[in-house]
Amino acid sequence: MEKTQKKGGFASGIGFVLAAAGSAIGLGNLWGFPYKTADNGGAAFVFLYIACVIFIGITIMICEIFLGRRSQSNPITAFKKINKNIGWFGLLAIIVPLVITFYYSVLGGYTVKFAVNSFWGNDGNLANFAGTPWQVILFSAIFIGFALIVVMAGVKGGIEKASKILMPALFVLLILVVIFVLCLGEGVAEGLKFYLVPDFSKITGKSILAAMGQAFYSLSLGMGAMIVYGSYTGKEINIVKSTGMICIFDTLIALLAGMAIFPAVFHFASVEGISHTELKLDGIMLMFSTLPKVFESIGFFGNIIEFFFFAMVIIAAVTSVISIMEVSCQFVIQKFKIKRKIATAIVAGLTFLMSIPIGLSLGNLLNGIDKLTVFGLDFLSFLDLVTNTVLMPICALFSCLAVGWFIKPKQAILELEQDDNKFGIFKTPLAIMMKFIVPALILIIEFFGIKDLIFPGNVFSANGLGVALVSLAIVAIVIAVYFIFLKKSETGTNLDEID
Ligand code: PHE
Repeated sequence: MEKTQKKGGFASGIGFVLAAAGSAIGLGNLWGFPYKTADNGGAAFVFLYIACVIFIGITIMICEIFLGRRSQSNPITAFKKINKNIGWFGLLAIIVPLVITFYYSVLGGYTVKFAVNSFWGNDGNLANFAGTPWQVILFSAIFIGFALIVVMAGVKGGIEKASKILMPALFVLLILVVIFVLCLGEGVAEGLKFYLVPDFSKITGKSILAAMGQAFYSLSLGMGAMIVYGSYTGKEINIVKSTGMICIFDTLIALLAGMAIFPAVFHFASVEGISHTELKLDGIMLMFSTLPKVFESIGFFGNIIEFFFFAMVIIAAVTSVISIMEVSCQFVIQKFKIKRKIATAIVAGLTFLMSIPIGLSLGNLLNGIDKLTVFGLDFLSFLDLVTNTVLMPICALFSCLAVGWFIKPKQAILELEQDDNKFGIFKTPLAIMMKFIVPALILIIEFFGIKDLIFPGNVFSANGLGVALVSLAIVAIVIAVYFIFLKKSETGTNLDEID
């Protein structure tokens, strides 16, 4: 194992933790977690979620950071160093985040537009904005521009520096929004009750699966990001402690986001004299339609809080997108031995080009136009299904298999102990988790995820099958490309980054 910290890595342990927390804290925390909590039995879901973070998330995160750290290189080289035949696990861990970057940038563009517009009002503007191509393209470009500036400046000078400023800023903004919302009075207590009082009878197989999926997504697992950030660390970080801190920050922000959203929505419903069930709390509609309405009904202060809210969402989205953009940039830099600035420009340029059709397709959907679809879905939902439902769990599984079956838990724990980790009586449980339990649980998520895709509500869906087959084709192409072009050739390490 290379021990020295190479140039360009994180300068400090806390810098790494903040950057990794920045990757983890994203849209998944700010709206995914609250609305899934509401859908799946309130506080009972929170309980399940925390259990999944502790029992599955922590183990996978340790595996991913460890894989990066011991290889000091991009994911392909990281897996190749373990066994030449599994290098394609790494290629998949680069392709998946690249695809996510394409559509995440469109959503990022929406958040920039909504932040800018907070002062004038966003209520009712969603379809209008989404249906105006030049605006969608412009705002996606601005968002990609933010990411470009940070990634171009490098790991220490860009990602670490930005995370150190932005993560505390996000926390302060979120606290301000929560305090403001809790002071609204009417409806607040009902909102909190809805969100926090558990009803354990609501726990079902489906809610357990939802909690597992959410834990993965929210912790940025199976996206290559933790492998790559891990590769920029050396002996100065303790992997287990850092993992614990990242998981605590991520969960805290998710919980606080719910404390801001539910009381606000219930307050609005109560003032308007309607039931909260009449408000759309799901996905895009919650964030870009319901919340602006809720904030703007409060008056001028509401607009300011709305601005804070969207500024916070931009921060969360930027610190997430830089982590996945870094995955492809790192590979391009190391494989083709080109400068970071050029690699970043190539990746950002490609992201911009790909974001255009995705933005147009989403705009059509929000305006009820049936054009630019694939398998009956807009491009964004399609790519989201391919990556989040099918490919991400597979990537996470591969990280676990690499550690649990190729490196072997005993050796992995031995290496981890060299950097101050003391496992004591947890040694055997951790080994069993790495080798058997976590891979088995991931397989269960994958199985039910695909089953639900192909047989939603137990009825066969040809479109769902199409999505599953495209995902399979991606895996097949990744394997072919790896064995034809990458297995025998040099794929580079962090030392290949030139100034
Ligand atoms: N963990 C992120 C979130 O909660 C997921 C993500 C990371 C998405 C990086 C895109 C890019 O939103």
